[in-house]
Formats: sequence, C-alpha cells, structure tokens
Amino acid sequence: MYAIEFKDVAFSYGEGGFRIPKLDLAVKEGEFVAVLGHNGSGKSTLARLANGILEAERGSITVFGTPLDEKHLYEVRKQVGVVFQNPDNQTVASIVEDDVAFGAENVGAPREEIARRIDFALSAVGMSEYRHATVSRLSGGQKQRVAIAGVLALKPKIMILDESTAMLDPRGRKEIVDVVLRLNREEKMTVILITHFVEEALLADRAIVMNRGEIVMRGTPAEIFARHEELTTYNLALPRIAVIAQRLSEGGMSVKSTLEIEKLADEIAGELSCGS
Ligand SMILES: Nc1ncnc2c1ncn2[C@@H]1O[C@H](COP(=O)(O)OP(=O)(O)OP(=O)(O)O)[C@@H](O)[C@H]1O
Ligand SMILES: [Mg+2]
Repeated sequence: MYAIEFKDVAFSYGEGGFRIPKLDLAVKEGEFVAVLGHNGSGKSTLARLANGILEAERGSITVFGTPLDEKHLYEVRKQVGVVFQNPDNQTVASIVEDDVAFGAENVGAPREEIARRIDFALSAVGMSEYRHATVSRLSGGQKQRVAIAGVLALKPKIMILDESTAMLDPRGRKEIVDVVLRLNREEKMTVILITHFVEEALLADRAIVMNRGEIVMRGTPAEIFARHEELTTYNLALPRIAVIAQRLSEGGMSVKSTLEIEKLADEIAGELSCGS
C-alpha cells in the first residue's frame, strides 16, 4: 500500500488559470521524496491537494488507501502534516507552547502525551527556551520553526514540507532537515520535501521535477542530477558538487560524475597521481 497516491489527478484554479492536467505519483511508506521545480511550477498546489485544502477535479488521491474525499477529510488530515512557506498564516495561538499543541489537541491526543510531544517538537526545532514566548514577537525564522514544531507534535505519518526552511539560515535549515531525516529513518515517517535547495534533494530516496503543472523528471537524485541539460531547461541549478565535477571535466580532468564528496576526492586524487 502507498502512503499517498495521486492517480490521474487533474486540477485548475479556474478557466484560463494555472492547471495540473494529469498527475500520477505514488509515494511508498517510509520513502523520502524531494520535489523540485522553479517558481509557479505547481509544487504548492500539489501540497494543497495532498491534504485536501484543494480538491481534485478528476482522478483520486488516497492516503494509506483511504480516499481523500469529504467523508474522510478529517481522518486523512491527521495523517498528513503540511508545513507551508509562510509562517504567518500558520500560527493560531499567541503563546508558543499553545500554538505547538493546537494541532495535537485538535486530533484528541491525551494531555500527558501532548506535553511530551511539545517537549520533543520544541527541542527538535531548537526552540525549547521560547516555550512561553509570544509568537508575534518572534522573527520570521523562529515563527517558521514553531510552525514546524506544531506539525511534528501531530506525529503525522506523512510530512510535507513546502519550502518550509526557506526563511532560515543555512544552519537552521540543516537542523530542520536533520530532524526530518531522522524521523524518516528511525520512525518510518514518509517525507515529501518541496525545496529549491538542490543540495537538500540529495538526501532523498527519490526526486521529481515539476514544470508547468506536470511531473517532467523522476528518478533517484543521482539520476536526476546527471541530466544537466534537461535540468537547465526547467530553470534548475545543479548541486555544487555536480558543478565542481563538471568544471573539472571541462578542465580536462576525467572525473566520473558523482554526488558524493569522498568519491569525488578519490577521483581527483586518482587523476592527479596518474599525471605525476
Ligand atoms: N489561489 C490561486 N488562484 C489562482 N492561481 C493560483 C492560486 N495559487 C497559485 N496560483 C497559480 O498557480 C501556479 C502554481 O502555483 P504554485 O504555488 O503551486 O507554484 P509553486 O511551484 O509552489 O511556486 P513557488 O516556487 O513560487 O512556491 C502559479 O502560476 C500561481 O500563480
Ligand atoms: Mg510554492
């Protein structure tokens, strides 16, 4: 059974507006899928469809086999946690801990369990000391951490991060991605990471590229990033390591394309010793 499956899904924001003509995507339980695509390609629309904020015009979306329809919306939402781009639309309570607890309270988690989840979620995003702080006084990045904690506290089986770390500095971004990665590896949480940081996509089991409402590339990150020219046509950059490998080979050093630093280092060392 798939964690989430889009089958022949079509959607549009109205006549003449942006549309998703046909989308098929199946994500297995425990899988970590990165979604790439330039601005306006439909990534957030995909996330909104996945937790029922938007309704498909055709086709079906199922979560662990349950159809995402009106009748099952509440049940399905408990399993799909989405963190969106803008934290301001996501905070509901004025005090940090209440905000983090809100979602978990709403799905009826027991009191003690909620207290435990708040502790876990706040520490996971590095915000434990702000537990009693006022949300509106926090910086954008801190608000976003609180929003992420709120979804973590829900313990969703599927977590969708829609460019949720874009407001954070590189260190903050890495902290969040590490937490998500750990939950994915240790608790089998299914992760869909929408990002324009291609380096983050390297961590995924699988990546898809969206363009104009369609999935135009699918594969492992290594497979996707090996298709340089195609990526360029979709306005996507290469990870830095791929750029370095490319430059080296343009400069006459025959290094095999790799996305792992250690392997690239070995390749270079091998090449240099051949020449000496
Ligand atoms: N509520 C809406 N009504 C009408 N059009 C919309 C609406 N929301 C988004 N769109 C349009 O749909 C297209 C896809 O938007 P979407 O937000 O899914 O893209 P995205 O890939 O997430 O982009 P970004 O990288 O900028 O976040 C865009 O052209 C956008 O202008
Ligand atoms: Mg978006």
